Amino acid sequence: MEQQLKAMLIEARKALLEAGNEVDLHSIRVQYLGKKGRLTAIMKDMGKLTAEERPIIGAVANKVKDELASVFEQQLQTLKHQHLAERMEQERIDVTLPGRHQRIGTKHPITLITEELVEIFSYLGFSVAQGPEVEEDFYNFEALNLPKDHPARDMQDTFYITDNEVLRTHTSPVQIRSMLQHQPPLRIIAPGTVYRRDSDITHSPMFHQIEGFMVDEHITFGDLKGVLTAFITECFGKNVGVRFRPSFFPFTEPSAEVDIQCVICGGNGCRVCQNSGWLEILGSGMIDPEVFASVNYSSEKYSGFAFGMGLERIAMLKYGVNDLRLFFENDVRFLRQFCA
Ligand code: DAH
Repeated sequence: MEQQLKAMLIEARKALLEAGNEVDLHSIRVQYLGKKGRLTAIMKDMGKLTAEERPIIGAVANKVKDELASVFEQQLQTLKHQHLAERMEQERIDVTLPGRHQRIGTKHPITLITEELVEIFSYLGFSVAQGPEVEEDFYNFEALNLPKDHPARDMQDTFYITDNEVLRTHTSPVQIRSMLQHQPPLRIIAPGTVYRRDSDITHSPMFHQIEGFMVDEHITFGDLKGVLTAFITECFGKNVGVRFRPSFFPFTEPSAEVDIQCVICGGNGCRVCQNSGWLEILGSGMIDPEVFASVNYSSEKYSGFAFGMGLERIAMLKYGVNDLRLFFENDVRFLRQFCA
């Protein structure tokens, strides 16, 4: 029996040390040391031994058991280390790999132009006001001297929300809101989004305007010319020609449209300015007494001027963009060119 035990020890030790993974290792241990394993099988014959032999064989069996338990433990640790080493190898991070590049975004050209115009007018003492894009008829039309059946309402193709609410067709309603909230003197600009039922190469149903107005005692058309000329010089350069041309708006009297010399051809005439040498950039005028009446300002005491312009148009002229749709398509190849 002692021989049998020693033979088993050699065999089992070899098998344990050759186990390639933990599962095999455990099953080899069960095979030799488990309840129905080889050791138990050998020990079955203990009964046949003499009383002197029994403790000797018992001691040998215990030694075999201890020895195999320690071989098992040792091999288990070896396999665990191996496994860890393999995983470390597989999951190794190569810190020399270049990182994934995050592109920095750029401001949209309309945002850039808005910021630039706000800055110019801030220098001239104007502060920014805002109004809602879903606007009441009163502010968008009525108070701006555009009563319900006024033919000039046709100038603007309106999106109606209800009978009484519209998507504002211009930023002019901010004039009314500001004047109802504050007393003169006022110097305000209001950039914002406006909507009209218009869509073709040169019109978008949603676009941007900036409104401006100044109200105080003794404001004259000379102030209007002075402020707008200063703005144009700052925005388009000292040498650009400026022209004030009589026009009509229901909320101003007299009214003027302002042209600048064509920035594309320098005034010689080209396709963009339709050979006139001039480009219209804004509408303006002296605030109509009817408008003052609707906000309870005395037109005896106060006078003022107002102006409004399309930001897409200004951006097109300043940045040399020839298609309005580029502003709304948001093609990154286009947008990326406007790094501040
Ligand atoms: N609201 C006008 C439009 O959308 C632009 C405009 C013209 C605004 C003359 C004004 C102004 O304040 O005085 O076409």
